[in-house]
Amino acid sequence: MDSATRPYRSVLYIPASKERALEKARDLPCDAIIFDLEDAVAPDAKADARATLARALQDGGYGNRAKLVRINALMTEWGLEDVRALKNAGADAILLPKVNTRSDVDNLADLLEPTMPIWVMMETPVSVFNARDIAAHGRVAGLVTGTNDLTKDLGSRMRTDRLPLMMALQSIVMAARAARIVAIDGVYNRFRDGDGLRVECEQGRDLGFDGKTLIHPAQIEGANRAFAPTSSEIDLARRQIAAHEASQASGEGVAVVDGTIVENLHVVAARRILAKAQVLAELEKA
Ligand code: COA
Ligand code: MG
Repeated sequence: MDSATRPYRSVLYIPASKERALEKARDLPCDAIIFDLEDAVAPDAKADARATLARALQDGGYGNRAKLVRINALMTEWGLEDVRALKNAGADAILLPKVNTRSDVDNLADLLEPTMPIWVMMETPVSVFNARDIAAHGRVAGLVTGTNDLTKDLGSRMRTDRLPLMMALQSIVMAARAARIVAIDGVYNRFRDGDGLRVECEQGRDLGFDGKTLIHPAQIEGANRAFAPTSSEIDLARRQIAAHEASQASGEGVAVVDGTIVENLHVVAARRILAKAQVLAELEKA
């Protein structure tokens, strides 16, 4: 489930109460799906949504997309029943919302098979302060940023440059990288604004996120493009590796490509880009 072996460019939320969307998702080119029992489902629809989702997962047909189930927080009246109904229904991971501390993760881990990975919503101010601890939990395999909840709790304003969220976004990427787990950016609410989405995806990519959570199928293509290595990145990576190998062979320590030095660490980054491109190429063939 880590980002070295599978992509997480586009992570689509689907309300578990929407049969039509659950059906449609079988043919959508997103890398991962979050089947949502939490905020996208109204309180009086929770029980039906649980049953609908369990059926959809058992019917399958979601191919090699990662399947995450977002349950309700365990302190809500629905959380425990969500776990009971979905823990063996075929999900690849359970996504826990409203986490504040490591012990919130422990509480869920106690209810799941030891092999079931846990993903965490990072959407409260307390969770951001505890990001390193939460990400380092042995069962946690990914962090998903909840920018709408963070904005609400901070009392900040939505801005195109997301300056008010920057400390949180960076803490989440930092924590995920320190623990070598996946980091996914928050949603872009204006789901019919493709240009705005592109800008925000680029920013998320620049910050180091593996991909973006999405609310509508129209957002998938933009995210897939933004979080894949570009052809010029791939080309540069190849030239950096070749130049570095040549300089090693001739005994010069440092190579130069396009007027920029290439050291061992740049080669590591270049190889990572090529590995990611390879994973995506194989996915396309499958
Ligand atoms: N996943 C899969 N399919 C989706 C989808 C989603 N998140 N959102 C819309 N679709 C499907 C619709 O079922 C519709 O399919 P059809 O034309 O084959 O019947 C198609 O995409 C077009 O949908 P559209 O009419 O443009 O959107 P809408 O007005 O029905 O819905 C939203 C708009 C925002 C309400 C809807 O996209 C949604 O519920 N998104 C998820 C919200 C969510 O999960 N929030 C919680 C996390 S922030
Ligand atoms: Mg939330």
